[in-house]
Amino acid sequence: LRPTHRLLSCPGTVAADVKREEQSSRSVETGSEGRIPKKKFSELQKERREQAQRTVLIHCPNKISEKKFLKYLSQHGPISNHFFYESFGLYAVVEFCQKESVTSLQNITRTPSMDTEAAIPFKSRFFNLKMKNPSSQTSEQSCIQCSNHSPPSSKKLSELLCYAESIDDQLNTLLKEFQLTEEDIKLRYLTCSLIEDIAAAYFLDCTVRPFGSSVNSFGKLGCDLDMFLDLDEIGKLNTNKTSGNFLMEFQVKNVPSERVATQKILSVIGECLDHFGPGCVGVQKILNARCPLVRFSHQASGFQCDLTTNNRIALKSSELLYIYGALDSRVRAMVFSIRCWARAHSLTSSIPGSWITNFSLTMMVIFFLQRRSPPILPTLDYLKTLADAEDKCIIEGHNCTFIRDLNRIKPSGNTETLESLLKEFFEYFGNFAFNKNSINIRQGREQNKPESSPLHIQNPFETSLNISKNVSQSQLQKFVDLARESAWILSQEDKDRPSPSSNQPWGLAALLLPSVVNSVSLAKKKRKKPASERIKNLLESIKSSSPENDTNTNGK
Ligand code: CTP
Ligand code: MG
Repeated sequence: LRPTHRLLSCPGTVAADVKREEQSSRSVETGSEGRIPKKKFSELQKERREQAQRTVLIHCPNKISEKKFLKYLSQHGPISNHFFYESFGLYAVVEFCQKESVTSLQNITRTPSMDTEAAIPFKSRFFNLKMKNPSSQTSEQSCIQCSNHSPPSSKKLSELLCYAESIDDQLNTLLKEFQLTEEDIKLRYLTCSLIEDIAAAYFLDCTVRPFGSSVNSFGKLGCDLDMFLDLDEIGKLNTNKTSGNFLMEFQVKNVPSERVATQKILSVIGECLDHFGPGCVGVQKILNARCPLVRFSHQASGFQCDLTTNNRIALKSSELLYIYGALDSRVRAMVFSIRCWARAHSLTSSIPGSWITNFSLTMMVIFFLQRRSPPILPTLDYLKTLADAEDKCIIEGHNCTFIRDLNRIKPSGNTETLESLLKEFFEYFGNFAFNKNSINIRQGREQNKPESSPLHIQNPFETSLNISKNVSQSQLQKFVDLARESAWILSQEDKDRPSPSSNQPWGLAALLLPSVVNSVSLAKKKRKKPASERIKNLLESIKSSSPENDTNTNGK
């Protein structure tokens, strides 16, 4: 169960300059505003990570005086930022100015004594606040302001879209409503930081980094939290320290392969999360997948988490997508709309299976934008030619080099509107020769398909991999049919756009409605197929969605 977040903001307590800095860092993060210098992905990650390390998560009683709460916590040092949210109960995220304040708070915190159960005394940064005298505080509780940061309901979205002024306006509205909020991003980094504390009990100096849609600027509110347990830094620290005639190495256990090492590490971390991780529930070890992972739910934040290790290339592909998302404001607007469109028509699903993934859809949009004339996005090969010596990056023999300073990439001269891009996108993919061509953002042009999967999208770094290998012919056909239908709907738009007062869905709103083509073809299918075949299909879909068979959910 994923609770919806109701975030309660606290104006007045956050220093004005902190707020200003955050607003500017947010626009840098989303890349949606003008040509302000944009931060490098690594700088942003470092900054957010450092913030998260001096942050704590507190489960609060429902009736709380915000003023007293903050005063109480400030005994441990000044607070730079805080917010409240509701998940299963009321939670506060409190960011201190200094890391020492967290230790100071931990030092006065006690482990609860239980009557019937026993507590595992793990000292984390996730606390429970109890009131000594609840009745004396209730009168002052009302000062917390509520703001809702869950994605809009389909009804609300439809209303917002209907009242927009143009299709361009609709795409930008959808982006604004679905993109991750500042608080949501902070909570994601904090959750990784809390998990890092647990992993660090075994692997000192390890790092847990978010990747995927939480950081690549294409995440929708409610998307999963992909985490990467980075153990490489440990090795690096040691090499710098060697000097003189001798070389010191740690005595270690050896295992037959990297894969086995990954499985062993994740297995033990999975146990730790299950046994000691406060708020970590439903821990599943999916170690036989192509990219082994531990899946769990972080109850307090409400995030569904996928923890992997030895997955550095995926972090690099998140950085690449972040750069593409920041280069032109139309990119994210297009990706969000296509993701929502696909979700509305059940082309994507939260259950792994033979459907297309959000990651594949993002690649398709990037590819399409590279194909415009003039191109809206440069090819990956071009970004590689702009790289300098410091950008050089080879991971497991794969060349992952590209320019990381996005301010050095020239903006596109293309002036097409979002409306025309959306229409062209559906036309382009409604007529794409999927049977013979592969999508390839490295070269930005179609290539012959190297293998026979219905949909072939080349992994930009591990070029022998197809990121959409899981997609079945019928799912691809559904995508094509819907793309054609949507292109048709948009071409009809100019002729008979309903007036805003009629409250009729138009433009993007009309595209998100249940499809005619699809319901007709579905009804036909239902009529045609005998029961035995339907049962066989059902069994197959269950088989392909079971976690152990899941080669697609994560990483590669
Ligand atoms: N990834 C990959 N190859 C795949 C699937 C995933 O390289 N076949 C990497 C991508 O970097 C992707 C990340 O793993 O961004 C996380 O995968 P996933 O959670 O499936 O996609 P997201 O981009 O996070 O999108 P969503 O919002 O649907 O979670
Ligand atoms: Mg994800």
